[in-house]
Amino acid sequence: MKSIDTLIEQRFSPKHFADRAVSEEQLHQLFEAARRAPSSFNEQPWRFIYATQEHPEAYQKLLSCISEHNQQWAKSAPVLMLSLAKKHFSRNEKPNRHAWHDTGTAIGFLLLKATEMDLYAHQMAGFNPEKAREVLGIPNEYDPVAMMAVGYLGEEENPNKLRKPVNEIAFTGNSHGLL
Ligand SMILES: Cc1cc2nc3c(=O)[nH]c(=O)nc-3n(C[C@H](O)[C@H](O)[C@H](O)COP(=O)(O)O)c2cc1C
Repeated sequence: MKSIDTLIEQRFSPKHFADRAVSEEQLHQLFEAARRAPSSFNEQPWRFIYATQEHPEAYQKLLSCISEHNQQWAKSAPVLMLSLAKKHFSRNEKPNRHAWHDTGTAIGFLLLKATEMDLYAHQMAGFNPEKAREVLGIPNEYDPVAMMAVGYLGEEENPNKLRKPVNEIAFTGNSHGLL
């Protein structure tokens, strides 16, 4: 079993996916990880619309929402997904200011589970949310958040692991280090 440090280290966003299918059972395991994520008032505001290449019509609908630039590499992925965030709390209809935050947390869980299964995911802000709403019939209560391509690794890639050092992102007790 891979350690959490290994999963964090191994994960990256590839641009080449292998011509190898991802099963519904595997996808279920990814969503199972996502559903375990914490959320404000346990609202679980995340939703996912996905399609595999085995269902070309549904797959093409998702692909058509992705920017042309991203489509060039994303179309090699056997699975495409769109994450959504429910905008209001079901308990009292008040706006859920943390809906996107919590959806991102769920994605984080999904990403690490994917890595454990030797799957890779590449998220995309480069898509058209209005088109997604129209093409996929998304109700107004849900915000399209990000799209994601998922699959096995294709050709070898050099992961972009450039990261800010910890002393640029975490500060003890005050904001003096913020630029
Ligand atoms: C919300 C979000 C949106 C992103 N949008 C795009 C995108 O539209 N196109 C793209 O090529 N990469 C996109 N990325 C991938 C990032 O560029 C990538 O995660 C970052 O450079 C760090 O690299 P790594 O994931 O390989 O560690 C996105 C990532 C996130 C989390």
